[in-house]
This record gives sequence, C-alpha cells and structure tokens, in this order.
Amino acid sequence: MCIYLSIYLSIYLSIYLSIYLSIYLSIYLSIYLSVFSLLICELYQLSRPDLFRGEAFIDGKWVQNGKTFPVYEPSTGEVLGDVASMSRSDFVTGIKSADVGFREYSSTTTAHYRAALLKKWYDLIISNKDDIATILVLENGKTFSEAVGEVVYAASFVSWFAEEATRAYGDVIPSSMPNTTVFTLKQPVGVCGIITPWNFPAAMITRKIAPALAVGCSVVIKPPSETPYTAAALVKLAIEAGIPPRVIQLIPTKDRDAATELCTNPIVKKISFTGSTKVGIFLSKLAMGTMKKVSMELGGNAPFIVFDDADIDLAVQAAMVCKFRCSGQTCVCANRILVHKKLLPEFTKKLIAEVSKLKVGFGLDKTTTQGPLVNRGGVDKVNQHIEDAVSKGAKLELGGIIPKDVNQNGFFIAPTILTGVTKDMLVANDETFGPLAPVFGFDSEDEAVSLANDTEFGLAGYFFSKDVNRILRVASRLECGLVGVNTGKISAAESPFGGVKESGVGREGSKYGLAEYYIIKAVTIGNTNA
Ligand SMILES: *[C@@H]1O[C@H](CO)[C@@H](O)[C@H](O)[C@H]1NC(C)=O
Ligand SMILES: *[C@@H]1O[C@H](CO)[C@@H](O)[C@H](O)[C@H]1NC(C)=O
Repeated sequence: MCIYLSIYLSIYLSIYLSIYLSIYLSIYLSIYLSVFSLLICELYQLSRPDLFRGEAFIDGKWVQNGKTFPVYEPSTGEVLGDVASMSRSDFVTGIKSADVGFREYSSTTTAHYRAALLKKWYDLIISNKDDIATILVLENGKTFSEAVGEVVYAASFVSWFAEEATRAYGDVIPSSMPNTTVFTLKQPVGVCGIITPWNFPAAMITRKIAPALAVGCSVVIKPPSETPYTAAALVKLAIEAGIPPRVIQLIPTKDRDAATELCTNPIVKKISFTGSTKVGIFLSKLAMGTMKKVSMELGGNAPFIVFDDADIDLAVQAAMVCKFRCSGQTCVCANRILVHKKLLPEFTKKLIAEVSKLKVGFGLDKTTTQGPLVNRGGVDKVNQHIEDAVSKGAKLELGGIIPKDVNQNGFFIAPTILTGVTKDMLVANDETFGPLAPVFGFDSEDEAVSLANDTEFGLAGYFFSKDVNRILRVASRLECGLVGVNTGKISAAESPFGGVKESGVGREGSKYGLAEYYIIKAVTIGNTNA
C-alpha cells in the first residue's frame, strides 16, 4: 500500500512542481519526497521516527561512509531501508575511541552512578517499547506481541545489571603468610567487542552490554546485518540516558572481514558473540591470538522429552511456546521432540490441533500469531529438513507448504509437524531454526536420555515428568547448560544462560553474566606487622 501511495505522490508532485520548477528538478524533488513518505508510511506507527536510523555511531557521532547494504522486510521480501556498511578502518577508529571512553568512564564513575545511568536507559526503553517493537517486527518478522515481549525482556537485563553492579563484592582471604592480607578487586576488563544475532535484535544486545556498562567497560557493537535498526534505536536511547558517547560504538557492516577487527585488535580485551557454532569457533580462534576473554552463545539442538508420566496438555502447551516462538528461530527452541511411545498418538493429535490454530502472516497484523522467517535461506533450510526426513520415511502430518494467503515474496513457511522421525535424519542432527516440529518415539528413560545427549550441542533441554526422583535424575544426566522441567520458558535476567559442549562457553544474565566483564585482581599486602 505504501508503495502505491508513494508512486502516486511522486507523479502528482512532479506534475505539480513542474509548474514552478524545471522538469528535472521537480522529478528529482518529488522522487526524493516520495521515498521519504514511503518510509514514514511504512513506519506510520512510530511516535519517534528518529529512532529508525541507518547510520553507524562512532566516536560520539552518527556517521556514514557512502557504502550501504539493504535490510529486507521478511513478510514482503522488499527493502526496508539501506544501512551504512562500515569498513575495517571504521572499526579501528571505533575501537580507539572506545578505549579513550573506557579509561575515562571506568576511572571517573562509581558503580552507583553507572547503575543510575542504566536505570535511565531502562526507563527510556520501556517508554519507547512500542516504537522499538515496531522496528523489530519490520526487520525481523516476529509478531508485534512477541516483539513487545522481547523489548521488555531486553530491558529486564538493563535493570538487573544496574542492580548487580552495586553488589559486585570481592573477597578478603585469610593468608597463609604471617602479617599478610589478601583481597580481591573486580575491575572492568576493558573494551568489549559485541557481535549479536538477528533472532533477538534487542535482547541479545542488552544482555551483553548492560553488564559491560555496569562494571565500567566500553563496547563496540557489530549488529546483525539482517536487523541493524533495533540496535540503532537502543543506542540512541542509551546516549539520551546519559551514557557517555564514546562508551558505546555501533558499527553495522555487511563486510564480515572488517568486523573481525574486533577479534584481532589488541585494544579489545573481550569478545562476546551469539550465533552459530561454526562462526563462534572461527571468532574464538582469532580472539585467542591476543588472549581475549570470550563468551560464546552458540547453536543448540534441544531435546524436548515427554515421559510416560507427563501431563500431556502441559507438554503440548510448552511445546507450542518453545518450538513456535519467533517461528522456531531461537537457539533454545525444541529441535527434537521425544515422546514415550505410549503417549505418541495422543500427544501428536493434540499437537496437531494446537499448531493448526496458528495464523501465519505479517507481524503487525493483530491476528497474526506466526511471522515469516528472517530470510530466504531460513525457508530453504526448513524445506531441506522436511524433504530429507520424508525421503527417509518420516510422515508429514501438517504444513510443509508455503501458506496461500500471505505475500508470496515474503519468507513464509507453514508450521510443520513430522512424525516417525529417526536419528539418521538431518533434522535430528542439525539445528532447523524454523517452525518444524519433528516427533520421535522412545521406549525407556535410558533410551530418551541417550538420544537427548547424542549431539555435539548442549544448550537447552526440556522434559516433562511428575516423578520427583526422575526429575532430579534426568536433570543431572542431560548434557546441557539449561534444563526446563515441566515448562518451556527457561530464560530470565536472573538465571544463568549458556551452553556446554559445542554450544559455547560463558554465561549471560545472572551474577555470572556480570563476571564475564570483569577481571579478578588479587592484592597481597605483606609485612603489615598487625
Ligand atoms: C548422556 O548420554 C550419552 C549417550 O548415551 C552418555 O554417553 C552419557 O553418559 C550421558 N551423560 C550422562 C551425564 O549421563
Ligand atoms: C606480625 O608482625 C609482628 C611485628 O613484627 C610480630 O610481632 C608478629 O608475631 C607477627 N605475626 C605473626 C602471625 O607472625
């Protein structure tokens, strides 16, 4: 609709303006104005259009360098806008400026002062949550209610770490040497390189930079090229909250090579990355060249086990949340649904009934409950997993198609259920990252646990049971960093989030998330003659 409006406007304006101006000038002017109106129209919901920006924020200024990359709107496949694609030298400039920012910020602020800044930032995020959520829907595709939920969740890390900053206690340690005192100082690690993913464009930024800013670090953020606008909105509000400009640098780029400057530049002391295991291992190797501290939140292949003593309705509800939230594009998504063979028919029937209720469409439409995937590649991967499973004997129970009543150029795929899935199929070994629920059957607890652990990943795992002994036993046997028992909701600011095995190192959120951004210095005072 916005397109037609802007074409109409540009023709109308060029005819009208040509009465007064030369024909070329009027065509030029009218096209310019129409493009602008197209943007505003697209963003008609924004009460603060200035939050929608495509520049980098380097050394305290919003800048461009002439090069751009397009950002797509996943429900139409059309270009939402062009964002500055910065070069390696821009990263070098940003890192140097962040170093100056770090030295000043860490030496002139108290934890209480930094907490106050973060609380102001929190308030600004909450008061602009509808605008941020709208931008998030336009670039990521998730539904508006999911987006608002994400923004509130993103803000919760800011308030959590504002409070934690003032409670970063050290230790006083009884010394083995006479007349000696040993104590610890927690000091900010320095300039942090922050590389974030597109599936949670807001929360994955705050979960990393709120603890960094809380302890006195500065950050250089490389936002995902699919969803850079949400990052810019958050940075704009952080600066408004009074966070010193050089302490936050935001550098979008399509040039992955330029972004690796964050991992090789010796000024950067810490890298925090969320994304695929492959890229995480690559970046970690680079970061080890100068022994940076690293946090890696990588891929998952979460098992979701329904034991024979489970509450089936509860398990189905939880499967809906942890499989279909964000159209299945979360790293803690249930990737393999393992159901005791006794419950298989009933569970499958109830799951099909619930999934059939999902309404696929544009995220800003009120009736939509399931948005598109972020890009075409995402759709292709889901299709590949479906084709591979069906060719090896799985049964397609629901979906597997592109819904008819949506924009066919958008990145849509219908929520899909496969049964009779076995461990030789692609979907059992590779993270699908889409709305595909593969259902496996099992006979015993041992079989379920061994299927669950049979992966190089170890991020989240879920299971359903009413037996307290089984709950304790299975929770300790599952090889993963996060376990959900009788629930599909496992992440919150106060709870440590992170993986084992090839799902990564380090923890985010909680008091452990703060620890990723400071170093512990041991101070020994001898000959005190006390
Ligand atoms: C997880 O399952 C694997 C495969 O059966 C097994 O080797 C491993 O011991 C299990 N882990 C634990 C902690 O029981
Ligand atoms: C500490 O130093 C004082 C003064 O030199 C000395 O009297 C005392 O014995 C020392 N304490 C210990 C535990 O050695």
